[in-house]
Amino acid sequence: MGIVYVYRRAHFSASHRLFDQALSDEQNAEIFGACSNPNGHGHNYYIEVCVAGMPAAKTGFVIDLKKVKKILEEKFLDKVDHKNLNVDVDFMKGINPTTENIAVAAWKQIASHISEGKLYSVRIYETENNFVEYRGD
Ligand code: NI
Repeated sequence: MGIVYVYRRAHFSASHRLFDQALSDEQNAEIFGACSNPNGHGHNYYIEVCVAGMPAAKTGFVIDLKKVKKILEEKFLDKVDHKNLNVDVDFMKGINPTTENIAVAAWKQIASHISEGKLYSVRIYETENNFVEYRGD
């Protein structure tokens, strides 16, 4: 039997500004476009976490998705939903909140709490068509 991949998807809304402190507003606008608006802007994000493993003989679960839901809420969603990612979120301090960096930060928040199976990937959707997947370390 091969590996089974189970997914949990969730939504959050957050604001951000992408910028490099060493650059002017004009230079930042050139690199980051609308996402570098000096006063920020919002996105309706989605996160998808995937846990890989073998279904346990007793339960048939790789991991109970209720557990994944709770970890995702407590370790990530409660900290980012309706927040400004540049200033409100302790684990994003000093990190430019690109979709890539949010995915890496979400992985770090969640990975060690997955008690069955193994965290396989974290996807962050910034828009319907732009998304990033991180597969950890
Ligand atoms: Ni943006």
